[in-house]
Parts: sequence; structure tokens; C-alpha cells
Amino acid sequence: MSSNKPYILGIDTSCDETSFAILNQNTKEVLSNTVSSQVKLHAPYGGVVPELASRSHVENISPVFQQALDDAKIKKDDIGAIAVTKTPGLIGCLLTGACFARALAYQSDIPLYGVNHLSGHLLSPFIDQKPLFPCLGLVVSGGHTTFYRIDSFDEISILGQTVDDAAGEAFDKCAKMLGLGYPGGPIVDKLAQKGDPKAFSFTIAKVKIGEQYLSFSGLKTALYYHIEKLMGEKKVEPKDLPEEIKKDLCASLQQSIVQALTKKMEYFFSQTEFKSFALSGGVALNSELRKRAQEVCDKNAMPCYIAAPRYCSDNGAMIAHAALVQKHEDERNTLNVQASKKIQARKLKAKQ
Ligand code: KG4
Ligand code: ZN
Repeated sequence: MSSNKPYILGIDTSCDETSFAILNQNTKEVLSNTVSSQVKLHAPYGGVVPELASRSHVENISPVFQQALDDAKIKKDDIGAIAVTKTPGLIGCLLTGACFARALAYQSDIPLYGVNHLSGHLLSPFIDQKPLFPCLGLVVSGGHTTFYRIDSFDEISILGQTVDDAAGEAFDKCAKMLGLGYPGGPIVDKLAQKGDPKAFSFTIAKVKIGEQYLSFSGLKTALYYHIEKLMGEKKVEPKDLPEEIKKDLCASLQQSIVQALTKKMEYFFSQTEFKSFALSGGVALNSELRKRAQEVCDKNAMPCYIAAPRYCSDNGAMIAHAALVQKHEDERNTLNVQASKKIQARKLKAKQ
């Protein structure tokens, strides 16, 4: 980060959240982390509609940027670098953020860094906590459920992941079957607190190709059969099931997902001598998962770094933070506008 202007702007528009954050480049302090969620826009469809999401980012991007500057009490000219999510994500959404970032970097003549969204999530527990390596990392979100070995901010390898649905996807799809609304994870979490986790059986399938993998797609089928049995001959919709039964179904489903994740943690701890564990992503907001992950770490006498709730769902702070701590890596992968400006200038000179 070469500029002497003190702040870095982090941008994430990979899915259904438009987010801008301002961090101090030297201290990594988060001055603002402004998020505009599109949840209400997509709720009637029971999931994110990519075209609507891209268009909504286009509308929101300038006001959210301005809000992030106001929240941080700084001016546009104080920004010395920009970090933007480059992949993975919905293509129209990513392009909206990347175009905005590129134009701003060009106009202000400051470096622009492309950041992997999953690196952002994975390293988000370290925005406000000091890591102890090697660390077992788990990113658990609507699109990913992946375990990593983190040896340093730049040395990261995948250990295992889901072979089908992500854990968040399982929460969302099951909630949709029960007519609970979107996104399903937080609703299931809330109802589960008043339900009996032993009421229904949701077995997590073993993945034959290796112990390091997970599978959540069978949960939808299991829920389907539970619902069918509960409704019997009655011609009612699943959303009309008694509240008490819905609570028990949610508690049982949640317990099964959380157990699958914590058992996998134990498996990786048994394979390698890790010194700590880091949990991140939208599903890291789940109250049961936060509690159980902490218990497993306590049992193994190691620190459990769980991302602060404000950094679990998609946000710009985690993107700026990853760019700061992974600067060597990002400098190699940079979307460096300054470099392209120099090339353009050289081409122009050659033509004259
Ligand atoms: O990380 P995120 O905001 O976006 C992606 O990159 O996917 O994660 C969104 C996911 C959704 O599937 C949502 O249902 C889930 O996180 N989620 C939760 C909770 N809060 C959000 N899942 C379980 N319990 C929660 N409390
Ligand atoms: Zn995400």
C-alpha cells in the first residue's frame, strides 16, 4: 500500500449486500462498515435473483459509498487505496463493484486491489483478534462450507468442503419448505431455541470419497419425508403445521448441521496439531454453532476466534482487511489501475 493517504476503502457487492468500509491502513482500525441489504427485495422469491441484485447494486452504490465516508468522518480524497471483491460471486454484482472501484481508483490515481471474497470471510475473525498459527479455519455461508489450514495470512490451503449444498443453503432451503421466509438461517435459529433438538432425526450422510468432505443435500429429503408423515392425509400446506412442530423440526435440523460441522472440526484436530480455530461467514451468526464451536475449542485447549457478528455476513471491512494483511499476495494479483495507466501513457507516447 504505497500511498501516503491514510485510509483504505473496502467494497463488497458479490451477492445481495452493497457494502463499503473505511479502514486505517496503518492500524487496521475499522472506521466505518456500511451495509445495505437487499433481503426485502429478494424475500418474495425465496432466494437471490441475480438480475435484480445487480440492478439494486447500481442504484445503491453511490449513496452507500457516501454513507461510509460520512460514518468514518473522512473525505473521498483521504482514501489512499481501494480493495474490491473480485471473485467468487454473481457476475453482474461483482462487475458493478469492480467498475465503481476501478473508476474511483483511476480518478484518484490510487492503487486498486482485487480480493478473493472467501479470503475476506476466512480472515475476518482477525479484524479484531490476533491469530495463532497454524489455525483451522471454517468459512460457512450461503454458498460455501469449507475448512482451511491457515499457516500465515498468505499460506492457506483447503482441507475439505461440502460436496453439494452449503450449510447456509441447507438452512435456507429447509426454511423455504416450511414456509418460514428468506433468508431461512436466522429464522430457523430463532425457532430452534424453543424446540426439542431430539424430536426428529436428520442423519448427515457420510461422503464416500473421503473423511474430509461433507454433504448437506440429504437434509432437504429428510425434511420432506418428515413433513409428509406429519401431514398424513390432511390437505394442508407445510406452512400450516403447528408452531410447536415447526420449532422441533428447526431445532433438530439445526442440531444436525451444527453436529456435522463440529464433528468435522474434531476430525481435523485429530489429523494435525492446530493451535487455534477460526469461524466465519453468514452461518457463523448461528447461536448454536458459536456455542458448540467454542466448546470443542475449550476441550482441545485452544483459542476459538469467531468473527464478530458485524463481520459475519458479507461486508466491505473484511475485504479491506484481507487486502491489508495479504498485501504481498494481492500485489501479485492486483487490478492495478496505476499500472494500466502507465501502459496507456507509454502506448500514447509510442504513437506520437
Ligand atoms: O456470508 P453470507 O452473508 O453470504 C454468502 O456469502 O453466502 O451468508 C448468508 C447465509 C444465508 O444462507 C443465511 O441463511 C445464513 O448465512 N445465516 C444463518 C444465520 N444468519 C445468517 N444461518 C444460520 N443461523 C443464523 N443465525
Ligand atoms: Zn459471503
